[in-house]
Amino acid sequence: MADAVGNGPEPRARLRAMKEYHPPLGCRDALRLDFNENTIACSPAVRDVLQQISTGDLTRYPERGSVEAQVAQSLGLRPEQVLLTNGVDEAIHVLFQTFLDAGDELLLPVPTYTMYEVYASSTEARVVTVQAGEDLAFPYEALLEAITPRTKILAIANPNSPSGSVATREQIVELATRAAHAMVLVDEAYYHFFGETVADLLDTIPNLVVARTFSKAYGLAGLRVGVLAGAAEAMRWVRRVISPYSVNSVALACIPAALKDSAYIGWYVDEVVAARAEFEAALDRCGVRRWPSRANFVLVFIGAKHSEFVRGMSAAGVLVRDRSNDPGCDGCVRITVGTREQMRGAAAALEQVMCRLRGEGEA
Ligand SMILES: Cc1ncc(COP(=O)(O)O)c(C=O)c1O
Repeated sequence: MADAVGNGPEPRARLRAMKEYHPPLGCRDALRLDFNENTIACSPAVRDVLQQISTGDLTRYPERGSVEAQVAQSLGLRPEQVLLTNGVDEAIHVLFQTFLDAGDELLLPVPTYTMYEVYASSTEARVVTVQAGEDLAFPYEALLEAITPRTKILAIANPNSPSGSVATREQIVELATRAAHAMVLVDEAYYHFFGETVADLLDTIPNLVVARTFSKAYGLAGLRVGVLAGAAEAMRWVRRVISPYSVNSVALACIPAALKDSAYIGWYVDEVVAARAEFEAALDRCGVRRWPSRANFVLVFIGAKHSEFVRGMSAAGVLVRDRSNDPGCDGCVRITVGTREQMRGAAAALEQVMCRLRGEGEA
């Protein structure tokens, strides 16, 4: 049997050279501040829809057209400009499959969302990274300089993860103009917590694409629904590579209710933004260095004891995410922001853990 495995075909060289990516899921029976999810629940209106799913809904292949039209309307776009995907992850995957060829360059400011590089590895394109400075601000000038005739996609998470930093509308427009031969993906997964978008520019900038997700503010990460929006012409090509059934019927049934309950999203976002300000103040009082964030998470600097910190927080019932391996983030940990009540608990745990680590030496 061992021989059969050994003699099987080799995967592509590009893939063999890749590091494995294992999100630290597993047992997460604690306060989940490690994946930037909604930390409480989705809208109750979505729960009602879930209870009404029939076996008929499950036996049929899902048809996403009508829900796509509703999502398009909510974004002020035409249906042909919008594609629903299996999370933004699939949006990234299909966009890269559509545009990245051998010899092309994917331009990425780093640190940023890990999956851009993972999906680039399913193409033959070269990844060109532009490192942010110590302030982890959006490296606008350096990106402008890094654009070449081979740049085919520039991917910008706005707000960015893990830093929480943002690019301005003017910067995005200038980058899209200077890289008119490339697609500029603006990944607005954390849009609700920031409140600014470039989706209204999709009609005027043909090489701009915007991604949105139902995984974060909407509290539906488990349903896996993302949105890719762009010029109708670009989306027509992307539709060629996507599976027609990648968004399942349960997810499709829930999206209209999620969209409609804007009061719930408004309430949750206000709560998180208030909690973020309180939590940032608590970090400052505790003397923990942090980066300014416009998203539902804060990146903090713990230093050499980052692993002990993550373990200590976990022992105190709070899961946080070690980002030490991200470029320019040595010693850093990312903490998702939930409700004020949850974050008061998280701040108390953090104070205790920091106190202990400091007592044991430099933290
Ligand atoms: C910037 C960014 N884009 C996309 C995603 C993934 O979104 P989805 O759950 O819709 O695949 C994440 C998740 O952490 C993210 O941080």
